[in-house]
Amino acid sequence: MIETNKNLKDLNTFMVPAVARYFASATNNDSLYRILASNEWSESEKHFVLGGGSNILFINDYDGFVLKNEISGIDIVSEDNDSITVRVGAGVSWHDFVMWSVKHNYWGIENLAYIPGTVGAAPVQNIGAYGVEAASVISSVEYVLLPDAEKKVLFNNECNFDYRNSIFKKNPEKYIITYVYITLQKKGKAMLNYGRVAESLTEKGIKNPTPQDIATIIIDIRKSKLPKVGEVGMAGSFFKNPIISKKQLSEIQEKFPQVKYFDLENDMVKIPAGWILDELGYRGFTSGNVGNYKNHALIVTHNGNGTGVEVYKHVKNIIKKVHEVFSIDLEPEVNIVI
Ligand code: EPU
Repeated sequence: MIETNKNLKDLNTFMVPAVARYFASATNNDSLYRILASNEWSESEKHFVLGGGSNILFINDYDGFVLKNEISGIDIVSEDNDSITVRVGAGVSWHDFVMWSVKHNYWGIENLAYIPGTVGAAPVQNIGAYGVEAASVISSVEYVLLPDAEKKVLFNNECNFDYRNSIFKKNPEKYIITYVYITLQKKGKAMLNYGRVAESLTEKGIKNPTPQDIATIIIDIRKSKLPKVGEVGMAGSFFKNPIISKKQLSEIQEKFPQVKYFDLENDMVKIPAGWILDELGYRGFTSGNVGNYKNHALIVTHNGNGTGVEVYKHVKNIIKKVHEVFSIDLEPEVNIVI
């Protein structure tokens, strides 16, 4: 069923109001193709695919067609002694899929527990947390290529995966991801070198953790730092962690000797944007209906009573301030839909 003038406020975790001219949900390939064949689809100049709505900021109403991807299903496509490959519907909740995986004792995505959003969104921004990225388990992505609605597949090495980036993120108007093929391992190795994960296992006296043990710890850590979806409007980290040269780092160190950074290749470093914003006093900041979360400055928040424009103004102020003080241009990680 195609709806008209649908308010998307309950369908985006930023909880901003935005009215879509047309709206419909696809639950499988057949219903997707019915939508793509509709007059409403072809007469719309703009099309937008919505998953869990957890990495998006609508600034205005959407004068086009919003398609909610609810394609479901987790099907095993191949299995041997070491690994298993599953074809997962793009509309499956990512966290539910992680819980399915750890329940079966498979390795590979336990560090990515409790990330909001859908499986179909995972390849778009190459979701990542605690030293693991979705790109490390995605074997291929099945999608419909627009405008001709051809069914296609891209293999991992063709997806141009990068830090919170992919071919899909760069060309959102061309791709409707339908299924993601994910390969999980039966004998895995715990990835514990990020943050407090190893420490928490020791505290609990766990020497040989299962994927479930690790997921449980990650869920606890995320719950302590990030707001729950629905508690406050937000979309996780708003900005990417900026990558700068060591030369620029040393200039920053003159003013901020305590700056946090992680070494990368080619004399580059990554600075935590959360630290930068904290340093500028944004943690727990509020102004009108918007602000930054009390436990993590990188989470831009909205109390549910404002608009996308207000959030966007706040974001632009942050970018300006960071540029003035650090000479760094922060890039949003969240998709901004104008
Ligand atoms: N920090 C502060 N003050 C703050 C927030 C952070 O000083 O208000 C410092 C922390 O103490 C830490 C550093 O900044 O030393 C990094 O913080 P954290 O470990 O929380 O990770 P992050 O770099 O802010 C990234 C991802 C998160 C992911 C975590 C854990 C990005 C943009 N964000 O956050 O992903 O959960 O690592 O792996 O890369 C998301 O993308 O939406 C997201 C939540």
